[in-house]
Amino acid sequence: MTEVIKIEGGHKLNGTVRIDGSKNATVALIPAAILANEPVTIYGVPDISDVGALTTILNYLNVSVERNEAGDLIIDPTKMVNIPLVENTVTQLRASYYFMGALLGKYGKAEIKMPGGCDLGPRPIDLHIKGFEALGATISYARGNYIIEAEELIGNSIFLDIASVGATINILMAAVYAKGKTVIGNAAKEPEIIDVATILNKMGANIRGAGTNEITIEGVKTLGGCYHEIIPDRIEAGTYIILAAAAAEEVVIENIIPAHLEALLSKLIDMGVDMTIDVDKITVRASHNLQAVDVQTNTYPGFATDLQSPFATLLTQAHGTSHIVETVYKERFKAVQQLQRLGAQATLSTGRAEIVGPVALFGSRVKATDLRCGAALVIGGLLAEGVTEIREIYHIDRGYANIDSKLTKLGAKIWREEV
Ligand code: EPU
Repeated sequence: MTEVIKIEGGHKLNGTVRIDGSKNATVALIPAAILANEPVTIYGVPDISDVGALTTILNYLNVSVERNEAGDLIIDPTKMVNIPLVENTVTQLRASYYFMGALLGKYGKAEIKMPGGCDLGPRPIDLHIKGFEALGATISYARGNYIIEAEELIGNSIFLDIASVGATINILMAAVYAKGKTVIGNAAKEPEIIDVATILNKMGANIRGAGTNEITIEGVKTLGGCYHEIIPDRIEAGTYIILAAAAAEEVVIENIIPAHLEALLSKLIDMGVDMTIDVDKITVRASHNLQAVDVQTNTYPGFATDLQSPFATLLTQAHGTSHIVETVYKERFKAVQQLQRLGAQATLSTGRAEIVGPVALFGSRVKATDLRCGAALVIGGLLAEGVTEIREIYHIDRGYANIDSKLTKLGAKIWREEV
């Protein structure tokens, strides 16, 4: 037996949806919290399975985690022990690699299994390793585990060949206690990086420049507890905005920071989507006569690769031929292949997709090959005639909190079944 999501398409959506705290910030903030020597409270933690997996990892490390009724996490690392993280939970998500930087930073040693995460093609961690080595660590790989250790971490200048989100955050965490000054050149600029630097600074770290391409970290001797509210999830927000552009009569998406979504919003305006942008919410109305556009994914503030798959679904409804160029993960087109099963007219080549629309999608059986593919298929299901069955939905639950209830509230017909 396996659980699937079923969606009966064709129902117009109305109402308001509230966006949760950012998944990709949360999964870094939780490991960051163990760098403190006192309890850290994080507000607005989304109810997603990645948080459950990280909580399990914290429990292995004897870190106590309490989740209150409002969903806030109180992480208490005062009785923490540094043991090898070799349990299978580590391989369930990509973000477990943040324990490399956090444990190395705090104890000078991390032993951890290879992290898992969505299959988006090759996802090397050479830049993380290069950063740890620059700080004085040695890295070995034995029995499927990375062993990263340093007698002393000493600040250094590190230039990243690619502005990697994960490497930037991991080096930040490893460097907060390092002796002297660390400079990360060509750092990633994503809002989630600012959120991690903010929590670390609240704990007492000395980090400047987060959000620019040069981050400077002056090592400190100790970090204390703090309270921190996570930024809204720009990818969840973007997903619901795209979904509304595809299937809304009138939907309000609230608790968002529109400045984090500029690349998406500008494409939607080019397509002719009818929307009103306010300070912290966006209203999307039924859009007619959507026009094809070309889009290229890029690092922030470019068009987010994580929105590329959901956006592909919307492009099936636009008049004309749209092109997608994927520059972050060249192989991230499994969603388009699944959309073809719903009737999408698309041609794929390396790093590129061409989508011709508009087409009438029809319900079929499809597979969420990764988290954002899942989101693309949910949107496809909302548009398709008949019932769409989505399999491997654990990917969706890793990153979209309460997606069924949020959509049901908007008038969608969506339910789970064991098949
Ligand atoms: N890269 C390297 N070497 C490295 C690190 C990255 O070559 O050491 C390459 C990657 O292969 C990729 C590019 O650099 O081509 C960018 O990767 P990055 O390190 O920025 O990605 P990540 O940290 O592994 C995070 C998000 C992803 C999101 C990417 C890009 C988390 C947990 N994951 O991954 O989110 O797609 O940044 O923005 O924050 C998702 O939410 O669905 C998701 C996959």
